[in-house]
Amino acid sequence: MRVGPPRSYRLDVTSDDNHSSATPAIPSLERSRRKRAEACVMILFGVTGDLAKRKIVPALFHLYLEGSLPEEFALVGFSRSAREDDALRSRLREGVLEHSRTKPVDTEAWDRFAECIYAVPGDAGEIESFARLGKRLDEIGEKHNTQGNQLFYFATPASAFPSLLENLEAARVLRRRRHEETRPWQRVIVEKPFGHDLASAQALTDLARRVLEEHQIYRIDHYLGKETVQNLLVFRFGNAIFEPLWNRSHIDHVQITMAESIGVEGRGGFYEETGVVRDIVQNHLLQVLALCTMEPPVDFGPYEIRNMKSQVLRSLRPIEPTEIGRVAVRGQYDGYREEEGVAKDSRTPTYVALEAYIDNWRWNGVPFYLRAGKGLASRTTEVALHFRSIPTCLFGDEDACLSVPNNVLKIRIQPDEGIGLHVASKIPGKDMGIGRVRMDFSYAEEFDAQPPEAYERLLVDCMRGDPTLFARRDEVEFSWRFLDPLLRAWEADERSPMASYDRGSDGPVEAHELIHRGGRRWEKLR
Ligand code: BG6
Repeated sequence: MRVGPPRSYRLDVTSDDNHSSATPAIPSLERSRRKRAEACVMILFGVTGDLAKRKIVPALFHLYLEGSLPEEFALVGFSRSAREDDALRSRLREGVLEHSRTKPVDTEAWDRFAECIYAVPGDAGEIESFARLGKRLDEIGEKHNTQGNQLFYFATPASAFPSLLENLEAARVLRRRRHEETRPWQRVIVEKPFGHDLASAQALTDLARRVLEEHQIYRIDHYLGKETVQNLLVFRFGNAIFEPLWNRSHIDHVQITMAESIGVEGRGGFYEETGVVRDIVQNHLLQVLALCTMEPPVDFGPYEIRNMKSQVLRSLRPIEPTEIGRVAVRGQYDGYREEEGVAKDSRTPTYVALEAYIDNWRWNGVPFYLRAGKGLASRTTEVALHFRSIPTCLFGDEDACLSVPNNVLKIRIQPDEGIGLHVASKIPGKDMGIGRVRMDFSYAEEFDAQPPEAYERLLVDCMRGDPTLFARRDEVEFSWRFLDPLLRAWEADERSPMASYDRGSDGPVEAHELIHRGGRRWEKLR
């Protein structure tokens, strides 16, 4: 296992991983647009788990309803407990009835869909189980005419990934495909967090690369599948008026928030291993940050977009251990230690706030305030870009001038998806009263629809071989490189502070103090 990198860390990305120097003959967006989801068998590890029940299987069912799933498709659930096809089908049906994003569920359609679901019982630690799996996959593939294409989805705790990879290789189920165009294809979706620090993420990629090429590895981060997250790029690069302002000359600071009102919801065991930094910041929050701050790509294809994100993540200023007390706060909501599966003396944070900097030409000196947590006042994910104040005030007395608000552009990722621009306006009346008003765009009103579930988009993208919305090795590693010193310092020091906060509040007082030190304040959680 490698040790953490020095500051001069260089990423080992082969030209095959990156393609940054190769100009694709056809722009990649065009290529992926023309691609359809290809016939395949999807093998789901963790089929009896929470993620499969809540997200993955309902997403597959919706794709089936919409006609976006290939006609030649089968789903194989590999697990110790689901032994019979019928038992697995009815278990998954329960999940769909409960978690489908559209109700009522068309149960006749479900019954038709369920005919392509199979249970393959097996033990993830036992190589014979994988040999049996391989044989069964051949039979099922033949029956459904899936042309040998296979999509392996690791929806299990991260600690299971290495042995899954090793056993799939040892049983000769999983094989290297030199080129993206090689058929039949085999791809592996790996759930986040990818590794639990930089060294383990590198070790995991190294292990995967013993068996697979980078183009076969799809590191999923469901935030990238959200419509509003994808719209960040269209908003920035599809409008001429914002990009000239999108830099240190005009932006005072940026706040990125991912707040949840729920607690750990029966996932205490998982959460204890993970904590908010690994669960949310390393992936969802830093991916949103990268999309908001990256340079314009040459085209909209997977290589260029990921190159640009990677550059920004690489420019994140490492947090020096001596600075941690000033720029980072962690906390636990009251009652967390009483949750099922949580240690009575747990030191796992459910909240984090950070002041971060991107050391590049565009963003030098602009603070990025990041916060994430559970048990907060509301479910709110948003980016708020606070612009600089006006250079001089023309509106008479000091009171009027003090009331001129800075412009804020708020990108609401969820809920109430949309974008609002806050501007100063005269308040009607004889005096020069000035207040903040909002110009607003709402997804629901404009498109008369709720955005689809992120997993739907990502599953189809993987079936058509489009990795644009999946994190590449270097992005994941640069994110860990940024967070590692913080995690190490907090985990090594039993006495490092752990703030507490009331459930349903705006987070710990210490997080408010963190941002106040820079003369700023958090956006209120809606
Ligand atoms: C997951 C985290 O990745 O995202 C969960 O593991 C979190 O802890 C969830 O609740 C939130 O996703 P969403 O799409 O509801 O914002």
